[in-house]
Amino acid sequence: MLSERETRIIQESYARIYENADKFSENFYMNLFEIAPDLRPLFAADIKKQGRKFIEILSIIILDLRDKKLIVPMIADMGRRHVKYGTERDHYQIVGQALIQTLDETFENKWSSTEKQLWIRLYNFVADIMIEASNYDDVS
Ligand code: HEM
Repeated sequence: MLSERETRIIQESYARIYENADKFSENFYMNLFEIAPDLRPLFAADIKKQGRKFIEILSIIILDLRDKKLIVPMIADMGRRHVKYGTERDHYQIVGQALIQTLDETFENKWSSTEKQLWIRLYNFVADIMIEASNYDDVS
């Protein structure tokens, strides 16, 4: 998915967020619910715990990017669980937008367009596996 060099760039980029993970996830959900207030009721009232889980899973994926055999089944399982949370296919694009916006605000002008493109690719990689595993096309 990403080359060695690209993996290193995104890991370094991620380390900068991790220094301030709580603030980052708080801003992420603030942005998400500003873009799509109708998604708020899907989440528990206490969004702090949720934010930690989101950051934790991102770190696992980013640290293990080279080990597809490990991360792909884990991401697919996560996608299947999301169907039960009420997540729909179209929500993935909105969550991706909130993530990129939050990264933009966090790094201000201190991130390159290369870095931004890598984050978009990483998010799409994860979202595509989750969507695929969710079988949204099946008539149930
Ligand atoms: C790459 C995309 C995403 C990642 C990495 C991610 C990550 C997570 C993680 C790690 C959890 C904790 C529970 C679990 O592991 O099953 C979770 C829960 C949840 N996610 Fe996501 N998620 C993503 C996309 C979405 C989208 C598109 C939605 C749609 C609104 C969403 C809504 C939720 C909800 C409602 C919960 C449960 C919250 C609760 O029970 O309080 N997620 N997510």
